Formats: sequence, structure tokens, C-alpha cells
Amino acid sequence: MNTETELDELRALVERRAGIHLDETRDRFLAARVREHMQERGITSSSDLLGRVRRSNFEYEALLERLLTQETSFFRYPSVFAALRNTILKEMHARKFWENPRTLRVWSAGCATGEEAYSIAITIADALMFVEAWEIEILATDISAAALRHAERAVYSRRELEALTPEQLETHFARVTGTDQWQVRPRIRKMVRFAPMNLAEPVYAGRMDLVFCMNVMIYFTEERRNALLRGFCDTLNPGGYLVLGHAESLAKCPVKLESCRHGDSLLYRKPLAVVKEAAPAVALEKSL
Ligand SMILES: C[S@@+](CC[C@H](N)C(=O)[O-])C[C@H]1O[C@@H](n2cnc3c(N)ncnc32)[C@H](O)[C@@H]1O
Repeated sequence: MNTETELDELRALVERRAGIHLDETRDRFLAARVREHMQERGITSSSDLLGRVRRSNFEYEALLERLLTQETSFFRYPSVFAALRNTILKEMHARKFWENPRTLRVWSAGCATGEEAYSIAITIADALMFVEAWEIEILATDISAAALRHAERAVYSRRELEALTPEQLETHFARVTGTDQWQVRPRIRKMVRFAPMNLAEPVYAGRMDLVFCMNVMIYFTEERRNALLRGFCDTLNPGGYLVLGHAESLAKCPVKLESCRHGDSLLYRKPLAVVKEAAPAVALEKSL
């Protein structure tokens, strides 16, 4: 078996297990990362690598970590967080005001190193009226154990915190003594629970009011993407929102969610009325 065939086998294995479709446009990326991985671990042939990855979960996960793209940042799409602050939380507040307990469940699916989940928590803490009266849970999941460890430590450099206002930095972060690193304060950390989860497998995270799945499905095949989107749709409470990355949409997925434009972001909302039949997505476009 030559190296190309072995790369194809690795590609197929990663797609089958993690849903990540590394097509020919990513050949150079795959070859470079595999080479780097082999050098670092002292593996001299790609057939040896393939054998190890097939036999051992530990070896598979070590290679997978190297193939994941974990680019993220605090308040990555400002218009999404403006919509959360100005529209979504106001709607939730009005609709749930008389509920007892008054719960808000949010899922950051593919949370990487935690910036997205903490941005959601900070927005909720700053914007939701009588926030102490709510039971808030932000479930943040990722396939990468290394990313989740980083997220749980909740320590970021000053450069990574550039999108925060000075008040947000002061209120929600504490400087790690003698460094230029800052740690998210316990009040915000307590709102977020991190857990490992593979979105390429059937998953159930309980009912959610808000699902953020940004920049995760871009490398999934259409079939996997649609299965995941149907799952998100089922998991959302009526009136709940789904937030995708800017390069992602529901265009080819038959789920019944309304689309709502907010600045340069498109959000999806599950209608309040019970829906019996699936219809093409983006059925109703409205401006918030
Ligand atoms: C580009 S980051 C996006 C982070 C964040 N959502 C954002 O938009 O800033 C993509 C994340 O998806 C995760 N991921 C990739 N495949 C996954 C899978 N099958 N299940 C769960 N997470 C996955 C990666 O580990 C990575 O942390």
C-alpha cells in the first residue's frame, strides 16, 4: 500500500468516526498534519500509523486532535451577540417570566476552547434582567479533549480578550498574578458546563432554548449536516433559536425553522405553534 492509499484510509476513518470530510481540496493540509504527527511521535511509516490508529483509541484521538480546526474568539460575530442581547433574551424574559423555575438552557455545540460559551454567559449576565432569578445552564461540548481542558481552565491572554469592553474585563475576569493572563471569574464559570461530545453520532442533550453550532458543520457531509440539524431542531423548545456560522445555512435542510436576519447574521427560530409537517427551511424571512 502506498502513502496515498494510506492517507485515503485515514481520511475515511476520520470521516466515519468524527464526521469530518477532508476532501481533495484539503489534501495538503491532511498530508502536512499527518507528516508532523508522525515526526513528533517517531512513527516512521504511514502503514504503521494507520495500524496504530485502527487498533487504539488513544492513537486515533491523538491524530484527530491534530486534524481539528479550533479557530475561535470571544464575541466572534458581534451581530449574533447583539441579537442575543437585544432580541432573544428580551423574548425569553417576556415568555418565561412567570415560569417556576425560570430556566434558560443553552448549548454551545463545538465550543472549542470556551470563548463562545463564555461570551454567551457574559452576555446573559450583563443583559438578562433579574439574572439571579433564573436557572441558567450553558452546556458546552466538543470532540477535542485538549480544547475542553483549556476551556475549563478558563485562562486567556490579554490579546485574546480584545473584543471585551474594559467593564466586561473588569467585571468578569481576574488577572492571574504576575502574568498577562486573565481567568474568567467563578460567577461566569459556574454558568457553563463542559462535556465531551461527538456531533457525528446521535446525541441528546435535553431540551434547549438556544443552540449555537458555529463553524463546526462546514466540513461535515451534507447527510451528516442534515441529521445534526434535524437533531438541533428537535431539541429546541418552541420559540428557541439556532445560531450557525456565517458560512453555514439551513438552505438544503428540510427543517421547519423561521429565519431572522440580524445585521450580517441569519438566526433560525423554532415557531411557537406546533408544526406537523416538515417544509423547506428559510420559509419565512423577517427582519428583526
Ligand atoms: C472552528 S471551531 C469553532 C468554535 C466556535 N464554535 C466558533 O465558531 O468560534 C470547530 C470546533 O468543532 C469541533 N468539532 C469538529 N468535529 C466535531 C465533532 N464531530 N463533534 C464535536 N465537535 C467537533 C472542533 O474540535 C473545534 O473545536
